[in-house]
Amino acid sequence: MKTEVLAGLAREQKRISPKYFYDERGSALFEAITELPEYYPTRTEIAILESYGDEIARGVGDSSFLIEYGSGSSRKIRLLLESLRPSGYMPVDISCDHLLAAAEAIASEYEWLNVYPTCADYSSDWELPFTRDGVRKVAFFPGSSIGNFEPTDARRFLSGVRRTVGEDGALIIGVDLKKSTDVVERAYNDAEGVTAEFNRNILHHLNSRLKGEFNPERFEHLALYNEEAGRVEMYLVSTTRQTVMLGGEQVSFEQGETIHTENSYKYDAPEFTSLAREAGFNLGGSWRDESNYFEVFLFD
Ligand code: AVI
Repeated sequence: MKTEVLAGLAREQKRISPKYFYDERGSALFEAITELPEYYPTRTEIAILESYGDEIARGVGDSSFLIEYGSGSSRKIRLLLESLRPSGYMPVDISCDHLLAAAEAIASEYEWLNVYPTCADYSSDWELPFTRDGVRKVAFFPGSSIGNFEPTDARRFLSGVRRTVGEDGALIIGVDLKKSTDVVERAYNDAEGVTAEFNRNILHHLNSRLKGEFNPERFEHLALYNEEAGRVEMYLVSTTRQTVMLGGEQVSFEQGETIHTENSYKYDAPEFTSLAREAGFNLGGSWRDESNYFEVFLFD
């Protein structure tokens, strides 16, 4: 972590990987973001899953084994469980304690469901701990988390999912669609400042993990929609000229200098379908909300 972070901060455009947002406080702040009036993706995706869960399940078929990538609190899968009635559910997450607590809760809520929590970093090389014959493996990747990958990495990741579920497997994935700059920028610049705090939390996290001395209050949140690239870009802007100790080294900032902390890509449907096709997936169905903000895809 230290080598990676210091290398990112030594670049011309300083950067820190968005995976470092998610310590305990960062995960709680992200949960709070999903409740904000401006942050439309979560509630829109939930509404789609509520309205079309039965249709999605029909598209998947009768016999499935569900694998959820980055399952967190396993909130959205609940909307599909009764319709899908899978023979097993494998939530995969890097945060082991949270994973086990969520798995216990879901196992006691759905007594008929076999739950196999698997602690792994799904974005790196990992393998299913076991396989089941005679059932269709179905990956579930909601929340438009795919948007936080660069498109090349997204393609590589989807190819890995294809390998994991096999030729007869499927993928259910939620994708945030391209839309007006206003709506998107509001979602990443909420009035309460929760997203700003989430962004600054990356510095709190580095302080605790790498003996850092960042004063997060000396950085301002900046999120803008780069329409040409089709992505929200998030930055932390240094409000003063400053030198900060991190992992035993000095990192210097000019006033106004930025650290790039996240990209969140938005896709249109044909664009995403062709990205998935390049990873070996064929479109099986798709469902979106009335405002065309968000789409849930089923790929075979
Ligand atoms: C987790 N991910 C899909 C969120 C997004 O919208 O890209 C992370 C986030 N960043 C700022 N607000 C939410």
